[in-house]
Formats: sequence, C-alpha cells, structure tokens
Amino acid sequence: MGKRTYDPRTYWDARLAKRWDLSGVGHACYSVGYNRWLYRAQGWALARALRRVRAPVSRMSVLDVGSGTGHWLKWYSRRDAGPLTALELSPAAAGRIRERFPEVTVVEGDIAELTLPANRFELVNMLGVIYHIVEPPAFERALESAARAIAPGGWLVLSDRLGSEEVRPARHVRFRPLACYEDRLPSLGLRIQLVQPIYTLLNGGLADAACSAPAVARNLVHGAEEAMAALLFALDRTPGLGHWANMRLLVAKKVGNSAEHSQAVEGPGVRTARCASV
Ligand SMILES: C[S@@+](CC[C@H](N)C(=O)[O-])C[C@H]1O[C@@H](n2cnc3c(N)ncnc32)[C@H](O)[C@@H]1O
Repeated sequence: MGKRTYDPRTYWDARLAKRWDLSGVGHACYSVGYNRWLYRAQGWALARALRRVRAPVSRMSVLDVGSGTGHWLKWYSRRDAGPLTALELSPAAAGRIRERFPEVTVVEGDIAELTLPANRFELVNMLGVIYHIVEPPAFERALESAARAIAPGGWLVLSDRLGSEEVRPARHVRFRPLACYEDRLPSLGLRIQLVQPIYTLLNGGLADAACSAPAVARNLVHGAEEAMAALLFALDRTPGLGHWANMRLLVAKKVGNSAEHSQAVEGPGVRTARCASV
C-alpha cells in the first residue's frame, strides 16, 4: 500500500490488531486516559439525544456498525438493549469482539459492500465510523445500506463534525457538513430529528495541534489536557458553546410508510451537491 493511500480494511485491521483499546478506536495520538473522557462525552451526548427523541433503548434490536472494541455494544447492553449485532470491517477486531461478547451476533464485513436485511433493526448505531468512509461512492452506499436495515419508525445514530463545510484532516478522515446529511437522508426515508454537540473544548485546539509536535511537547500538552479533562468536559456542557462544537451527534428516524417517505424526500433535499463528489 502506498504511503498516501487509505485502504480501510488494511488500515483498521493493522491499527486494531496492534491497539485494541480506546486509543486504537479513538484518537490515535491521545492517551487512553484522555480518550476515556472523549468516550464519556459521547456517551453523555448519546443518552441525552435518545432521551430527547424518546427512543427507548431497552429491548431495542441494535446494529452497531464499526464496533471496534465493542464500547457501544457494552453501552447498549447495559441499557438492556437487544438483540445486539456488530458489523466490523477488521477481521482482528471482529475476532476479539466474538470472544469478548459471546451473546452478540458478529458480522465481519464492509457496510458499503454488504446487503443487510431490510427493515431488520430498531436502531443502527454508527458512532465514530461514517467519517472514516472517505470515498463518496462508498459513503453513499453505506448510508443506503444503513437506511435499508432500519425498521420503519427506527433510528439512525451517527457522529460527524456536521459543521458548515467539509474538513479532511487526514487521509482516513473526511468530516462532512450537516448540509450533506440534510441532502442525503430524506431521499433514504430518514428524517433528521436532532443534532447535538458532543465536544467543543475537548478533542481539539491545543491537544490536536500537539499531535504534530515533537514527543516531549506532545506529552506535556496531553498530560496537561488529561489533567484538565474533567473541567473541559464540564465546560463543554455550557449552553451556547455547542455552536463551535468540533463533533456532533445526529439522530434520524426512518419514516413509517410510503406517504411519509415521499414527504421526507420532498424535504430539504434530493440534491446531492453538498456532499463531496470526489
Ligand atoms: C474510529 S473506530 C470506532 C469504533 C467504535 N465505533 C467506537 O466508537 O469505539 C472505526 C471503526 O469502524 C470500522 N470501520 C471502518 N470502516 C468500516 C466499514 N466500511 N464497514 C464496517 N466497519 C468499518 C473500523 O474497523 C473500526 O473498528
């Protein structure tokens, strides 16, 4: 593989075989401790979002796409959701999930390539995944595949930057703007119900800049960030600050019948111009 190419299966399999922990699935340059705070913030946002849209997690059938270490499988299991299915691209991670979660059905494969059973899951969870599907055709197919698998009245949960423009900080990351999802989801029968900030002060600024600094400076900054993470976590909850969030959570609901579906299609967009095409 050339240095600048990104083959998702090779990349994730190598990364997760080496580090099957929160810095393997989270931000690779941050410590496990700092990533733990990022996951705490995501969990807090997820619980709040599902409460706000009145999605009762208990006894819901959940498909967790890109399960990684199974963090979200554990999260849903603790809230009594089930049955749970994991879809994972990396053979190494899929094998570890099978061992660690014997009660979970594990499917090894690519969401953009598989044909998932139609109307099968009450909730499809894609936290930390969709922005790693960088190629536009694969992104389109992944959304179609997820939408198809959701039962009418069911939910799609995903995280992305969802700002005003696309950002490409690395070859394996393509953060898409909210407008891209506003364009694509209605034509798949999915209505956006809520967009919620995940973090603003956490996961950004100095911590991010330090990733390209020499090891000593990086360790100093990350040590300081980890020590302050509880404070940043609390400050991120300040009303109004979410406007500048660097990561957000989106919840969409699959409409129940064909009349509702055509209404959803007539919504903001059958346009696709606001998702990158190259
Ligand atoms: C950043 S990690 C996030 C893991 C987990 N969702 C979490 O939040 O802890 C991305 C995960 O998605 C998986 N993945 C990436 N592209 C995928 C695809 N096209 N289909 C299925 N899984 C994929 C990777 O193997 C990896 O486990």
